[in-house]
Amino acid sequence: MNFEMSSNPQPKVLLFGAGSVGAVYLYLLSKITDTTAVCRSNYDTVKENGFIINSSIFGQGVHFKPNVVRSCEEAAPKTSELYDYIIVCSKAIPGGVPKLIAPVVTPGHTAIVLIQNGVGIEDEYLQAYPNNSIISCVVYLPASQRPAGVITHGEVEKLQIGAYPSSASSVRAQAFTELIKSGGGTAECFDDVQPKRWLKLLINASWNPICALTLSKDTDVLAASSEATEVLLAVMLEIRDIAASYGHTITREEVEFQLGRAQARIPKNAGIEPSMLQDVQASRRIEVEAIVGNPVRMGKEKNVPCVRLEMLYVLVKALDIQISKR
Ligand SMILES: NC(=O)c1ccc[n+]([C@@H]2O[C@H](COP(=O)([O-])OP(=O)(O)OC[C@H]3O[C@@H](n4cnc5c(N)ncnc54)[C@H](OP(=O)(O)O)[C@@H]3O)[C@@H](O)[C@H]2O)c1
Repeated sequence: MNFEMSSNPQPKVLLFGAGSVGAVYLYLLSKITDTTAVCRSNYDTVKENGFIINSSIFGQGVHFKPNVVRSCEEAAPKTSELYDYIIVCSKAIPGGVPKLIAPVVTPGHTAIVLIQNGVGIEDEYLQAYPNNSIISCVVYLPASQRPAGVITHGEVEKLQIGAYPSSASSVRAQAFTELIKSGGGTAECFDDVQPKRWLKLLINASWNPICALTLSKDTDVLAASSEATEVLLAVMLEIRDIAASYGHTITREEVEFQLGRAQARIPKNAGIEPSMLQDVQASRRIEVEAIVGNPVRMGKEKNVPCVRLEMLYVLVKALDIQISKR
């Protein structure tokens, strides 16, 4: 790919999806890059006051003020000010974002960075921008935004980064990894980041729909019936089997370890409300395709039995459609 940095001495970064995760990474990058945020519901507050981050890692009351726009059209670059990176950090809901970011993507130049959960989320970007680097990131960063512009972030921050597809050049993925590290973040670049996506999916595709459908914390699901642990294990093993059919090995021990983490929190009454449960409670659309639908379709393509996961998909898909009608 013919990649040259723009004439601006600092890389130019635009964030699409200025929520809790995106704001933390924009803060780190604001120390070393020229940052712009596309804001929607938090536009007025962030335009006026910037973001405030209360983080167990980066400090309390950390204030920063990026450039703020309402849309990618408004942020469209002048000829010499191309964006080097567009970071997509909205919820992974397919079908719209590749078109929305078109005004800020320069073919052959702008790298598109996806910091989102799920699997199979990259293809629509690759199809829309075949001449741009697609950088796929798995993120561990517990964060929420309440009220608008104020981000609360817990004690973990980790990005696992790789080029998409894994056969593509990793030059831009490596450069992005270094950029995050220069900003004070924790980032590692992998030859193939997809196994990392599947490992995270083990938790997300099991607990997210089950907790959302039952309006329960993970520990409350486990404690509710003597059958629950076995069913959770079976769902996780289906996800493991689908991952294996695509060449990504997750061991039974890793599955049992992940399930054990929730079991260990039962006596401490320290249940977790996964994001899909929080979204349902707030009547927001959920990441049903990225987290449940895509793995089910991928499993069926390879004839991997996944009836439990398929049932969860059917139920949580119907729930998402009902939410969209409210
Ligand atoms: N939060 C966590 O603890 C966490 C941890 C690990 C991974 N993740 C993953 O990270 C990704 C981002 O999650 P998040 O929690 O940061 O989400 P979030 O707080 O809901 O933020 C998403 C942001 O995207 C904005 N947005 C969505 N569509 C838009 C559009 N068309 N135009 C402009 N802005 C738009 C939303 O604006 P509005 O406010 O107007 O809706 C919101 O500010 C997800 O894939 C999630 O699963 C999250």
